[in-house]
Amino acid sequence: MKIAVIGTGYVGLVAGTCFAESGHDVTCIDVDLKKIEALKRGQIPIYEPGLEELVHRNIAARRLHFTDDLNAAVGPSQVVFIAVGTPEGETGRADLQYVLNAAEQVGRALRHYTVIVDKSTVPVGTADRVSAAVARNTQYEFDVVSNPEFLKEGAALEDFLKPDRVVIGTNSERARKIMGELYAPFVRTENPILFMDPRSAELTKYAANAMLATRISFMNDIAALCERVGADAEMVRKGMGSDKRIGYSFLYPGIGYGGSCFPKDVKALMATARDVGLEFDLLRAVENTNARQKRCLLTKALKHYGDVSNRTFGVWGLAFKPKTDDMREAPSVELIEGLLGKGARVQCHDPVATEVAQRYFGDRVLYAPTCYDAAEGVDGLFLVTEWNEFRHPDMKRLKALMKSPVIFDGRNVFDPRRARDEGFTYFGIGRGQ
Ligand code: UDX
Repeated sequence: MKIAVIGTGYVGLVAGTCFAESGHDVTCIDVDLKKIEALKRGQIPIYEPGLEELVHRNIAARRLHFTDDLNAAVGPSQVVFIAVGTPEGETGRADLQYVLNAAEQVGRALRHYTVIVDKSTVPVGTADRVSAAVARNTQYEFDVVSNPEFLKEGAALEDFLKPDRVVIGTNSERARKIMGELYAPFVRTENPILFMDPRSAELTKYAANAMLATRISFMNDIAALCERVGADAEMVRKGMGSDKRIGYSFLYPGIGYGGSCFPKDVKALMATARDVGLEFDLLRAVENTNARQKRCLLTKALKHYGDVSNRTFGVWGLAFKPKTDDMREAPSVELIEGLLGKGARVQCHDPVATEVAQRYFGDRVLYAPTCYDAAEGVDGLFLVTEWNEFRHPDMKRLKALMKSPVIFDGRNVFDPRRARDEGFTYFGIGRGQ
């Protein structure tokens, strides 16, 4: 099939590359000419394990192309994906200007019956609005399908190539057949395509992300309780997760969820509910807990030191989670800004996010080449992102480097007893202090 993908962000680039990998002829489109030129040379703008290699392979096989000419790419395509950004707009609502603008351009570019797919995370009812925007600009037949993406940064290829499920929202039999064919290589009996109406598909994406955010905030509240009653949230997590109805994933207490999706999608779902006269109180609480949790390491530090001014702190990890350089809504930003605001000095290390971090902090922090350099001479060390390389440090070396051996473990990576036995003052999340 000939496919066009509009938007070469995370979702668009991964989807386009994976469809090319399964043998289709894919053209990815972006308005950013610089990005397109770089992509043509095989340089990808994000850090995502395995993606660059797959892009190279498919460019070489002439199945993957990049252009800024939407008209030329959309015209001959049978399926057109809209994968442009839906940033947070007014009062938490998703800003649809890029999606609707793309839809109008697609309308003008159509040359025959085409399936137009909303891949971006869009609020309920967007398929109808996209449909109207296309219809205003074309005489050709088309169907608009909602096909939300569930991929996680850092595991995007795996998630796309072996999805838990593929959600396809359409009322058209013709579109259903084409979409079924397109996704056939990626699905199995136990990982099926779920066909549904467009509105249910649109809502599924928000409901899934909001549910995951809720689990995290729930655990963070349990962790706060553990700290006050002398229980260990890690044991409670295991005890709960072993119940098949609950399961182990997304129950890790930490320093709050970040990234480009959860914060924005929780807000957007609340706005959707408000628009139809519902107040989603549960999600308001999820947000409040998350805001508190993002401040929790700073709160612990202020309690421990009293005053942090003129003290130096090490920070391990800047990305909002491992295996990405994405710092959008990262808890590291709030922590570091908080420390700097209180007059402390910060020396940080992240395996891949240093360049991105410079956009946030400029020369207000020190960027250490290794995690041990970040710990040198510090009054305390914050573990913010659970990169594997931070999991088993040489504790003796670490202690010798630090001015005072205090660890604030924002991801419960270390064993508190071992850390204390090694002579550290240890603070975790929900670990019974
Ligand atoms: C998320 C969804 O998982 C994905 O399906 C959707 O398409 C986009 O949004 P992503 O933003 O890449 O993906 O990150 P994810 O791995 O889900 O983590 C989100 C945040 O939750 C991170 O800040 C992470 O540190 C935090 N988290 C996750 C916890 O604090 N505890 C957990 O148990 C799990």
